[in-house]
Amino acid sequence: MPMRALFLLVVATGVALSSLAGAQDQPRQVTITVDPAKPGPTISPYLYGQFIEHLGRCIRQGIWAEMLRDRKFLQEPGKSWKVQKAEGADFEVYLDPAAAYAGEHGMALRLKGTASGPCGVQQTGLGVVAGKEYAGYAVLAWQGSKAPVSVTLRWGDGPGDAQTVQLEPGPVYRKLPFRFKAARTSDDATLSIALTSPGCLWIGCVSLMPADNIRGMRADTLELVKQIAPPITRWPGGNFVSGYNWRDGIGDRDRRPPRWERAWNDIEDNDFGLDEFLDFCGEVKTEPYICVNAGLGSARDAADEVEYANGSARTPMGALRTANGHPRPYGVVWWGVGNEMYGDWQLGHIPVERYAERHNAFVAAMRERDPSIKIVAVGAPGPWNDTLLARCAGHLDLLSGHHYSQRGLRMPLSEQDMTKYAQQWPGYSASVAAGIRTIVQDFRNRMDKGDRPLGQLRLAVDEWGIVRDWNPAPDGPGIGSFEHYYCLGDAIAAARGLHEILRNADVIGMANWAQLVNVIATIKTSRTEVSMDPVGYVLAVYGGNLRGTFIPVEAPKDVPLDVVAARDTATNELAVAIVNYSLTEDVNVELAIPGGVERSSLVWRIQGRSYADTNVPGQPEKVTLRPSRGVMLPGELEVPRHSIVVVRYSTGKR
Ligand code: AHR
Repeated sequence: MPMRALFLLVVATGVALSSLAGAQDQPRQVTITVDPAKPGPTISPYLYGQFIEHLGRCIRQGIWAEMLRDRKFLQEPGKSWKVQKAEGADFEVYLDPAAAYAGEHGMALRLKGTASGPCGVQQTGLGVVAGKEYAGYAVLAWQGSKAPVSVTLRWGDGPGDAQTVQLEPGPVYRKLPFRFKAARTSDDATLSIALTSPGCLWIGCVSLMPADNIRGMRADTLELVKQIAPPITRWPGGNFVSGYNWRDGIGDRDRRPPRWERAWNDIEDNDFGLDEFLDFCGEVKTEPYICVNAGLGSARDAADEVEYANGSARTPMGALRTANGHPRPYGVVWWGVGNEMYGDWQLGHIPVERYAERHNAFVAAMRERDPSIKIVAVGAPGPWNDTLLARCAGHLDLLSGHHYSQRGLRMPLSEQDMTKYAQQWPGYSASVAAGIRTIVQDFRNRMDKGDRPLGQLRLAVDEWGIVRDWNPAPDGPGIGSFEHYYCLGDAIAAARGLHEILRNADVIGMANWAQLVNVIATIKTSRTEVSMDPVGYVLAVYGGNLRGTFIPVEAPKDVPLDVVAARDTATNELAVAIVNYSLTEDVNVELAIPGGVERSSLVWRIQGRSYADTNVPGQPEKVTLRPSRGVMLPGELEVPRHSIVVVRYSTGKR
């Protein structure tokens, strides 16, 4: 469903369902005691982590600024690149293995005789903004009479709605830059490369990006990532990693081979590889967590990858990294061995008995190159964990566990689905927390039994999130229909999931929301705009406040509130997060803090008019995160229905 249609549906349904809720005369009053003198466990700084994967538009068109699809010509003409042919022209376009620049072929455009108009290739569906500049280049070679090649960016149908530049390629491949400035905003601009004189033009690769890109990344996306400020980010998958060859993603980007990737069945241009990921991490100040391919990959490949990232310039892989322009070792600490290897959907899936041996072989090879790395192993509650933990003790620092709350709703959402969502709200609201509890319970049972050397082992909930539909309609726009727009209700369920993670801070060492951009993510992008998903606000505000030491809090059983607190020992600040998960009841909370507080500082509220509100790029924001001045104690904190309130007090030294 087009974004706008989904937006209207959600809004319309939300208004209707909200009006069913009925009015409440006065907010209920409750008192909640938060005692910083009774501290719980230390909260790992990694609990607000994120995950990015080469899936749908997470990296392509999400983080990465490249606007063109299949820019290195993996697919034959007619797919991403349409053929433009003047009437009667003797013109053909084909993939030419002899002209390969990256991968297995370049694109050849052969014109015999003269043509009555331009003949070439073009790509439609590009987003441009009035007044914005776009920078690109093409790697071209030409054989024929001396004639320029024209490159045109068109953003409308009128004669003035385009800009054309002339390029003069020579007999061997050369990189020829071009630049455009769009005069109008369009979601369906076209880039064409055309010739009018007889001859043959070979295109090795093409690129087009907004000129304000930050070393190839979208500036608007990075701004929102910085607001979320994830402490750690996992990459490159997910299912994707089990078929990924990390060597495809290093070196000259234009020469990296495009591949048909088999986990999600899509084109992988390999423009965003290990060096780009680590550049991204440096730019947004998140710690890298790299997952190696334990599906179809080998232990040797994984060890080489560790050495490429962390080895000195004197090691073979460190020398390769240096040759690629990165002399300093990155010092990546966190490494995941494989992804969901227990599932038959995973490339390279094998039974756990054999996998455990493979895991140990990977870890031994990787630690041989860098003994200081920390390892996250694939876990799953039940028999998988039984075998893996028994056979892999000493070969892991964190045991992973994934949880996705499944809504049982088909995408795109229908009005009926939203009605079902409202009816089943109590279950949905608690479902993320319940899923995380299952992983934690399995782990605690093992610890309590004490029959395994678990030692310092902790859990990494390194994928958690909400998925409505794993199998988008086959007639939908491919993986694009997998894109989820979360509503305020989903943000509330996610916040309750985070509360569960915090309550189990003694055993959870890391958690990574899946995912960061587009698909099932906290930031949404269109071709030209970005927006913060309601779930993004949750991660941003909790990550910025709920840290240090967990403080256990009991909310009265009969109120629809879910409350957690934490005290940051570095700043002596106490943060309390309150989720009102009722769709109908407003509550006023009086916080009792024994010992008092020195002063209030700030209150953040995540709220919307309806729990079904959502945020869509380019549309006015419906779910907002608003800071306001704090509430002095004693005093009442308003926690309206379906809202999240985080308040922070300075407690002074204790
Ligand atoms: O996050 C989407 C997918 O969900 C990941 O690729 C996989 O690990 C999980 O099943």
